[in-house]
Amino acid sequence: MKPNLLKLLTGSLVLPLLTLTATAATVAILAPVASLSLTTTNPVQASLTISNSGDQVWIIQSSASLTNWVTVATWKIHNGLYHETLTNHPAPANLFYRAFYDPSQQDIFSTVTNALLLPASLYDYAEVVLPASFSAPVITAEDNTPATNETTDAGATLGRVLFYDKRLSTNQTIACASCHQQAHGFSDPRALSTGFNGTQGTRHAMGLSNDRWYQRKHFFWDERANTLEDQVLQPIQNPIEMGMTLAALTNRLAAEPFYTNLFTAAFGSPTITANLVSRALAQFVRSIISSQSPYDIGETNNFANYTAQQTLGRQLFLGQTGNATCAICHATDNFVPTTTLNNNGLEYPYVDLGVGGITGVATQDGLFKVPSLRNVGLRAPYMHDGRFTNLTQVVQFYSTGVVSNPNLSPPLIAPGGGPLRLNLTTNQIGAVVAFLNTLTDTNLVANAKFSDPFNYGN
Ligand code: HEC
Ligand code: HEC
Repeated sequence: MKPNLLKLLTGSLVLPLLTLTATAATVAILAPVASLSLTTTNPVQASLTISNSGDQVWIIQSSASLTNWVTVATWKIHNGLYHETLTNHPAPANLFYRAFYDPSQQDIFSTVTNALLLPASLYDYAEVVLPASFSAPVITAEDNTPATNETTDAGATLGRVLFYDKRLSTNQTIACASCHQQAHGFSDPRALSTGFNGTQGTRHAMGLSNDRWYQRKHFFWDERANTLEDQVLQPIQNPIEMGMTLAALTNRLAAEPFYTNLFTAAFGSPTITANLVSRALAQFVRSIISSQSPYDIGETNNFANYTAQQTLGRQLFLGQTGNATCAICHATDNFVPTTTLNNNGLEYPYVDLGVGGITGVATQDGLFKVPSLRNVGLRAPYMHDGRFTNLTQVVQFYSTGVVSNPNLSPPLIAPGGGPLRLNLTTNQIGAVVAFLNTLTDTNLVANAKFSDPFNYGN
């Protein structure tokens, strides 16, 4: 049986039905301009797609008689497109569908049929129970949460929505999450990220796991952002990445009723400012905490959960076997240094001046922030320019490839001068890689509270 007829009425509910056909959409497009399409995959399912660059709310109704209509869904269109498969309601099949736009029903907020899907009660971001090892003084000293921006559940929830919202880019094509992908440890599988108009940047997107703990408090490979609150506004305004102005952004967000609701919940006022956007994004980024990896379990059982290969890798990493000095720079359970910027001998002459390019200080040329190694196994390719495609290449580089240069950091200088040569065997390289992979936290990458809250209809 050919069950579904489709009708799009725009402007108002009372428009008369136009011609109906048994197979395809009949579309009457009035303002706002939109299109609706219908395909049927089986007698009781209708697959509907609405394309509406105005991002309005649409009410979807069905009827078996064309006389009595039942509302089956209310869709808030985001970034132009929404798609959903509907099961015919009520049974039996052979239903007609129509969608209409009602100017008085444009403030739909967080219903299950809304394209913005938030849980009825907020996820816990503020009171997450951390393993005992996270209360060590060396870790608490790394915590860069400012007293003026403690994380709250409502603040991080707003931050999550912003992080995934393509409205943050000028042409609404990319979100923070386009370059910082949860499945890839909040990094980008591309060596260099691509911005809103297809232009490539010059650096690899950093993974964001445990950014909350970095004692130097600075962000970016060259540490040019003094705080995380400063950092999160920069990609929005970056001419390659998102290309927005903060004024255009706050105006755009203020036009969305769901945002005024979220800002009120987070900060007690519907007024949207760049400062509050920054605070919410920083709260969300700080909440991206990896603390349930095999490494964390190992912390509780003296690494009895490790295989022999992972144990050897850990000993090599810590310098308990061989002469590697990894743990001097990748220190503490967050695998970051406490006070130093470093050069790890990737190249000389320097192609990217790193910190020196910002400060103009020659002794800082080629120095970079040491990224946390949490979830490093998920975020290939590696280094600030994404030059290494896998961890084996990284460890091979540390084994034999470190390049002498004027700013090479002391842990990588051999006792007699020149770059340190670890000369690891193939077996040992495999062991270090196996150890690095124990820092992968599958709970983090599967956790819905860090996932995309929008249904873009993809
Ligand atoms: C077009 C890709 C792209 C987009 C979009 C993007 N980023 Fe990034 N992000 C990067 C790259 C590349 C870097 C490293 C840049 C550098 O160091 O110069 C980075 C670095 C960062 C860092 C620094 C991490 C650290 O440990 O120092 C944070 C935090 C961050 N981004 C958060 C965000 C947020 C929040 C957004 C959205 C407002 C965002 N990014 C949008 C590509 C992107
Ligand atoms: C002198 C300090 C220092 C030492 C010692 C050191 N590293 Fe690094 N490591 C860095 C710096 C700095 C970077 C970032 C460099 C860049 O991208 O320009 C880095 C980057 C990395 C990365 C890539 C991270 C990413 O997100 O792309 C891995 C993996 C890594 N190091 C593992 C190791 C291992 C394993 C050892 C020991 C064999 C080691 N490091 C020794 C300073 C160090």
